[in-house]
Amino acid sequence: MSPIIAERNIGQNVPHHRRSDAQVGVPSGGIMADGMPRVAAIPANFPPGGYYCIQPPIITVQLAENAWLQDNECIDGISAQEHGLSAVVQASSSLRLRRAVQQIAHYFHRELQYDFLQYCAVEDGRDVDHRAYLWTDDYPYDDKGSLEVLGACCFRLRDYKEVGERYALQWVWIHPYKRRGGFLKKAWPYFEKRFPGFVVETPLSPAMRKFLVYNTSYNDLLISVGAPPLLDSDTPSGRSNSSPLPNPK
Ligand SMILES: CC(C)(COP(=O)(O)OP(=O)(O)OC[C@H]1O[C@@H](n2cnc3c(N)ncnc32)[C@H](O)[C@@H]1OP(=O)(O)O)[C@@H](O)C(=O)NCCC(=O)NCCS
Repeated sequence: MSPIIAERNIGQNVPHHRRSDAQVGVPSGGIMADGMPRVAAIPANFPPGGYYCIQPPIITVQLAENAWLQDNECIDGISAQEHGLSAVVQASSSLRLRRAVQQIAHYFHRELQYDFLQYCAVEDGRDVDHRAYLWTDDYPYDDKGSLEVLGACCFRLRDYKEVGERYALQWVWIHPYKRRGGFLKKAWPYFEKRFPGFVVETPLSPAMRKFLVYNTSYNDLLISVGAPPLLDSDTPSGRSNSSPLPNPK
């Protein structure tokens, strides 16, 4: 969520031109992504349709289930799948899963009007510590086990001056039809187990601010690290750019 932090981590700082996200986050370098040159792999995953079209990426039940073999599906009796999460995605995940995350990151970027894309299926230097998660529809829509992806989020490992290394929720986006349906609220206890004391990066959207204030104990965490608690609305628009959090190194 923090442009500066993400810029440091993803290495992209390309000016935002609306309706032209061919220019967003196009990297230098020639890393190969599953046999495809990086410069080709990224444009290949621009969301289908026009700029305002939202079309869920498709994964399969098998891909989703296999994803959990690589990372903690269950921690202290808290199961990610029982908390509504369909798949975990990391640097070593299949390109199809990583592309699904990138497509959702495009929708996040377009809606929140950020200057750059926060997730690339093929990232410079591969952030091996990140963990992204996918929400999907409950049931496949065909006999091939195809699942529509309805949301995603991404956690990245940060290093803060005051509290040292800890994970941060960098961004999260849920399909508009599924908002206020409890996706994030249901997953939150799993995230708290998986990333103890995680930070939520700013700026916060008004919805995210309300989510945190009324549904989580995030303010207790802020107070415990000496940061001011979040209010329901810090600015007239409710969107605050001031970080209530410790400074990253
Ligand atoms: C913010 C967002 C991720 C929340 O996910 P969600 O799955 O819709 O959230 P939940 O359904 O779990 O919300 C639970 C509670 O959070 C609060 N909340 C969430 N969205 C809210 C909104 N738009 N207005 C007021 N309260 C809201 C409510 O208390 C809600 O409970 P209720 O519906 O019973 O009143 C989602 O709205 C979204 O993707 N928004 C666009 C992208 C975005 O803003 N990302 C965060 C960037 S900082």
